[in-house]
Amino acid sequence: MQSKDKLVMRALGGETLPTPPVWMMRQAGRYLPEYRATRAEAGSFLELCYNPELAAEVTLQPIRRYGFDAAILFADILLVPQALGADLWFVEGEGPRLSTVTSQADLDKLGPVDAIHDTLSPIYETVKILKSELPAETTLIGFAGAPWTVATYMIAGRGTKDQAPSRSLIYQNRPVFDALMDRITDATAAYLIKQIEAGAEVVKLFDSWSGALPGALFDQYAIQPAIKIINQIRAAHPGVPIIGFPRQAGEKAEAFIDATGVEACAIDTSVDPAWAARVLQPKACVQGNLDPLLLITGGDALIKATQETAAAFANGPYIFNLGHGITPEADPANVDVMLRALRG
Ligand code: CP3
Repeated sequence: MQSKDKLVMRALGGETLPTPPVWMMRQAGRYLPEYRATRAEAGSFLELCYNPELAAEVTLQPIRRYGFDAAILFADILLVPQALGADLWFVEGEGPRLSTVTSQADLDKLGPVDAIHDTLSPIYETVKILKSELPAETTLIGFAGAPWTVATYMIAGRGTKDQAPSRSLIYQNRPVFDALMDRITDATAAYLIKQIEAGAEVVKLFDSWSGALPGALFDQYAIQPAIKIINQIRAAHPGVPIIGFPRQAGEKAEAFIDATGVEACAIDTSVDPAWAARVLQPKACVQGNLDPLLLITGGDALIKATQETAAAFANGPYIFNLGHGITPEADPANVDVMLRALRG
């Protein structure tokens, strides 16, 4: 099958399909026993990310089990800071930790953009393996974190609930913040271009914390970096569809689509599907936004919400997905319930 004939590619091309293609954020993850086993074999989450055979294996697991229409490369958005020279480790049960960047001296310790591929080459190898092993009809999605979201982890050294350390740096040392953003922006473009060259058919830019940007800064730090990355990708590989995920941007998602020209906009659980269908869908394919909590609670509420979400987007280009990643507590059987509700 040619890439352009795959269901996800057709939706991204603007086609309205009778049954929407479907995949899930974090579909390769801890809710699956086979993921937990492979992660144990690898030793740790990061060792799994950098082991091309095993990273490809966990990417394929949810495809085998559920027959999703897309596979997302197994990696993490924080590999880019690590490739730029930040220390990165994961604390079990808590999340990521990084060495912080808050001054010119910290910035000077980071490496050049050209050097990232030394660290990231195993990720390109994973993409190559997937390209040859995925079923013919499955679309392969590459990804990276958007600069603001990646910067929030580099500045705070961990996840925070309101991104106060990063907003503070904007107010206290704008030149350092801007230089960090520029470095991440260029690294991200280079990283995504390499993923495409290795075989990714689509790329997705995760701006998980775009909702924490003060309104007046959304254009400068969510939209403008996305434009720079997209321009570099389009110059190198015109025609590769791009999915933007300006999470919790609310109605600013419309300006995001207008300014960046993304083929698709992923929406989080807070977005009203009726609003997104009316305002966003005429401009781009929409992807989302079932509440991941429903995959824990299951039952009739899951069936009803799945059908209502799909119905809201039935008159335009659409890819079914969750509003955020599936959680470790989700019941794998509920994913089957969701798929039956969607596909009949
Ligand atoms: O979606 C997929 O299946 C592809 C792989 C993927 C992972 N992380 C694997 C992962 C993708 C696309 C990501 C993106 C990512 N990583 C984001 C953006 C999307 C979002 O969730 O908002 C962010 C913010 C990160 C950073 C990150 N990675 C955090 C905060 C954590 C810890 C929280 C958690 O869920 O444990 C991770 C770890 C992580 N990344 C796991 C997985 C499967 C869990 C690690 C494990 O196995 O212990």
